Amino acid sequence: MDTLTITQPDDWHLHVRTGSMLRAVIGHTARQFARAIIMPNLKPPVVSVAQALAYRDEILAALPPGSDFQPLMTLYLTGNTSADEIRRVADSDHVHAIKLYPAGATTNSDAGVGDIRAVYPVFEAMARHDVPLLVHGEAPEPGHDIFDREKAFIDAHLSDIHRQFPELRIVFEHVTTQDAVAFVESAGDNVAATITPQHLLYNRNALLAGGVRPHFYCLPILKREHHRQALLKAATSGNRKFFLGTDSAPHSTLLKESACGCAGCFSAHAALELYAEAFEQMQALDKLEAFASFNGPDFYRLPRNIGRVTLVKQPWQVPASYPVKDSVTLTPLRAGETMAWQLLSTFG
Ligand code: NCD
Ligand code: ZN
Repeated sequence: MDTLTITQPDDWHLHVRTGSMLRAVIGHTARQFARAIIMPNLKPPVVSVAQALAYRDEILAALPPGSDFQPLMTLYLTGNTSADEIRRVADSDHVHAIKLYPAGATTNSDAGVGDIRAVYPVFEAMARHDVPLLVHGEAPEPGHDIFDREKAFIDAHLSDIHRQFPELRIVFEHVTTQDAVAFVESAGDNVAATITPQHLLYNRNALLAGGVRPHFYCLPILKREHHRQALLKAATSGNRKFFLGTDSAPHSTLLKESACGCAGCFSAHAALELYAEAFEQMQALDKLEAFASFNGPDFYRLPRNIGRVTLVKQPWQVPASYPVKDSVTLTPLRAGETMAWQLLSTFG
C-alpha cells in the first residue's frame, strides 16, 4: 500500500504554549488535524473557564489564515478547583475536560495536585456533570524509580479513582507500559487512553544507548521494548479505548540540550506520518483511521470529522530545526532524518 486516505484526524493531547512558540508550532498541527485537546500547563496554569476562553482566542489568532482548526480547551486541576468551576466547564461549548497533574510529575506541574484524595469531591462533581478527567499517570514521589512511576500511579491512585467513581470518564494520557494497557483494557468502558508516536516507535535505547539524546526525553520516559510492543498491539488492536494523542510538547533547542534538559518531544511537524510508520510496522495501516479519527471523537462525544487526508509513501527529510524567534529554534523528533510517509493534502 503506498497511498492511504482516511477521515481527517484529531490530536487528543497537545501542548502549544503561548506567544512566539505558539505561533511557531500551531500551523504544523492545523495542517494535519481538525481539532486538538489543548493542555493547560502554562505558567501560570489555565485554571478557570474564563482563562481557557482567553487562551483559546490567542490560539485562534495565531492560526494560519483560512484555517478552521478548532482548539478544544481543558482546565488544570488544583486543590482549589471548585464545584462551580466544574459546572461552568459542563456548560461551556469550548472546554472539554480537566487535567490532573500530580504535583511535580512533569513540566509545569508545580501547581498540580499534591494530595489526590483531597480532590475526590472534585471528581464526584465531574462524574455528576459528566466532565472527563485527563490524567498524567505517574506517581511523583522522588522515591519511585522513574521507569516504575506509571505502574505506581495505577496501584496507588488510578485504580482507586476508577473504583470510587465508576461513572467518571477518564483518559489515561500517553500510556507507556504494558501495565497501563492492561489497566485500560480491564477497566470500564468510560476509561480510555492516548498513545504518542514516540512511545510507539522508540524504546529507552533511543534516549540512552550510544549517548544521551535529549530530544527523546519526554515524560513519561521511554520504556523497555516489551512495553513498546504492548502499546503497538493496543493501538492497532481495533479496541476503541485507544486513540491518538501526540503529546507534542515544544521546548527550545537550548532548553532541551542542557545539563538539566526539559521533558517533551516536538512531533507536530510529522505527527500522522510517524503514526503511519508505527502502524505499518504492525502491518495494520487499515487500523489507523479508527485510532486517529474515530475513537477519540466517540469517547469525547463529538462528531467525527468529514474532511479526508491522504498519506503517500514518499520519503522526505525532516529539517534539523524550525525557527521560533530571533535565534531561538525548535528541534523536531527525527530531526535531519528521513520520513517514509508524507501527508499530501486535507479536504474540507
Ligand atoms: C510536557 C510538557 O512539556 O508540557 N512534557 C512531556 O514530556 N510530555 C508535559 C507532559 O505532558 O507531561
Ligand atoms: Zn502532555
